[in-house]
Amino acid sequence: MAKSKFEYVRLFETEDRCLPNSWIVVRVDGKGFHKFSTEHDYEKPNDMRALSLMNKAATSVMEEFKDICLAYGQSDEYSFVFRKETQVYSRRSAKLSTNVCSLFTSAFVYYWSEHFPSSKPLYPPVFDGRTVLYPSNQNIRDYLSWRQADCHINNLYNTTFWALILKAGLTPGEAEQKLKGTLSGDKNEILFSQFSINYNKEPEMLRKGTILVRRKVPVVLPDGSGTREKSQIVQLHTDVIGDEFWNENNHLLTIS
Ligand code: GTP
Ligand code: MG
Repeated sequence: MAKSKFEYVRLFETEDRCLPNSWIVVRVDGKGFHKFSTEHDYEKPNDMRALSLMNKAATSVMEEFKDICLAYGQSDEYSFVFRKETQVYSRRSAKLSTNVCSLFTSAFVYYWSEHFPSSKPLYPPVFDGRTVLYPSNQNIRDYLSWRQADCHINNLYNTTFWALILKAGLTPGEAEQKLKGTLSGDKNEILFSQFSINYNKEPEMLRKGTILVRRKVPVVLPDGSGTREKSQIVQLHTDVIGDEFWNENNHLLTIS
């Protein structure tokens, strides 16, 4: 078919294929969720409804994109790790980040009412998305460690900050002042001595975030004659900084 004289404008599009043989991470992050969480009455410091909605939206993304081998989420963010050798969308960076981000956002809204049955979103939530490449296994492990360490630091701070406000009656300014310059040991001590909270006994989902991986699980056949293996997306709340998780899941880092 003859091309129109306008066809040349296609040449203005730039090539954005991700480097071969590198881990591709797409991270989405809620835009202005400090405000969004306040306006939607998220519980402080953590809202289980909101976190489970994030996990549900991320599960929808993994169900659609089979080449995502692992996802990690905390607070208003989720990271999706594509297999090193994925060829999805010919590894085009913008295609990957926009499709993941768009599906994540629409799933967040689609499943909202299952997690917040008595309210509607007051306005359409927005998530940004970016694609980052990590060439080595150490790099991708360090990336996930970075996000999990961030989860720990923020959650310990927020748990102490909100205990001081909600349980000890401090103003946000006073709580901030009290925590200024404190180390994690100091915050653990405040939680324990003032509020009888043993931080290590707080729910793992809050302390470690959520890891989504695929696992083969046995499912009962419809006629009840036995079971067959089915791949399912499961939620874990374990440590990904040490070696144990990677030793137990070493298939994640080896090219299949
Ligand atoms: P941008 O990402 O730069 O647009 O800003 P942001 O306002 O989204 O902040 P950021 O992504 O750095 O941090 C996420 C914010 O979401 C936190 O600071 C909290 O205010 C809020 N948030 C996330 N999860 C929860 C939750 O479970 N409960 C409450 N109360 N707030 C939460
Ligand atoms: Mg945000």
